[in-house]
Amino acid sequence: MSAYKTLDDLGTIRGQRALVRVDFNLPVIDGKVTDTTRIERAAPTVRELTGRGARVILMSHRGRPKGKVDPALTLEHILPAVSAILSPVGFASDCIGQETLKIVEKLNDGDILLLENTRFHRGEEDNDPSFAKALAALGDFYVNDAFSVAHRANSSTEAIAHLLPSYAGRAMAAELSGLARALDQPERPLVALVGGAKVSSKIDLLNNLVTKADALVIGGGMANTFLAALGHDVGASLCEHDLSEVALEIATHAQDIGCDILLPTDVVVAETLEQNVPAQTIPLSEIAASDKIFDVGPQTIALISQRLERAKTVIWNGPLGAFEVQPFDAGTCAVARHVAMLTQAGRVVSVAGGGDTVAALNHAGVGHQFSYISTAGGAFLEWLEGNTLPAVKALEESE
Ligand code: 3PG
Repeated sequence: MSAYKTLDDLGTIRGQRALVRVDFNLPVIDGKVTDTTRIERAAPTVRELTGRGARVILMSHRGRPKGKVDPALTLEHILPAVSAILSPVGFASDCIGQETLKIVEKLNDGDILLLENTRFHRGEEDNDPSFAKALAALGDFYVNDAFSVAHRANSSTEAIAHLLPSYAGRAMAAELSGLARALDQPERPLVALVGGAKVSSKIDLLNNLVTKADALVIGGGMANTFLAALGHDVGASLCEHDLSEVALEIATHAQDIGCDILLPTDVVVAETLEQNVPAQTIPLSEIAASDKIFDVGPQTIALISQRLERAKTVIWNGPLGAFEVQPFDAGTCAVARHVAMLTQAGRVVSVAGGGDTVAALNHAGVGHQFSYISTAGGAFLEWLEGNTLPAVKALEESE
């Protein structure tokens, strides 16, 4: 049984006001929402609540307006996209106050209202109890369906859960159980794949993963820092030489506790990162001073694949190469397709997350073939770091 309540714990809710925290911090280009995934993920919760006769009041932040009204970040811009998925949704031009209360009072059973950007008030990011109280006045109960902002202790994600009976929405509950299955109670062996540009942004994550995983595959730019720390010449590649000691500490700690670290044994290099630039696949020993590493080579892919064949759980964060530029997408695509194949065959549970990772898996054409793909960026990383997520803790503590 989970430590937080879910929609299954709600009694009769006909006529009640459900205050639902969603994450509609969506990409908008030329006034149009370019990725509606987060609306689609929230839709089952909203439909279930309206189907049961509740009056649904949606609240979200968008961007970082720092407590001031910024017309460029109004949630009104995303209202058409929300309405297209959830059927007509009303809009309140403030998220608190008498006018908003009046609009809420006029809602009928099954209606949906979207409130203006919560971050237009300072109280939101300050986790201010009086702002949380003003939000709480709009609802009879609170539902949090926004895992991707669960790492923020904001009024609409944290303080409010102490003021109203609180429940995890369907997407939140699915995300938490998907993640727990991968890291908290994984079927072993657990293989973690971590890529991306820099070790500096993922030190805590690497330190936590070595304590959980049976094998840690390191790719992307951050592998260069490890290779250099171990005495390999990485030429002109992206490399944080000042983090050599940190990389060595992580590698030593991993070795001490029985987590195997897999680093590239061959690489794809070029002098510039450009589409279809002449590239060479070479062993580590042949990297020239002007070479830049942009991908893992076929021998490394084979080593990773062998390790994956024995895995029961796979966690992935960060591409293994510069996948946005061909031909440097080959390593990430090959490994992504292998994990997808193993997942589809029922041989592994696979969880991936982080902005670049989802884009990379979609690029490989396997975005829907993993067991669970998290739409969260920062929250997913903090979870991988082993941090407590304040919004989840608040749900667990709620009466
Ligand atoms: C996200 O898109 O990662 C979340 O909405 C969190 O946004 P924030 O980093 O501005 O808090």
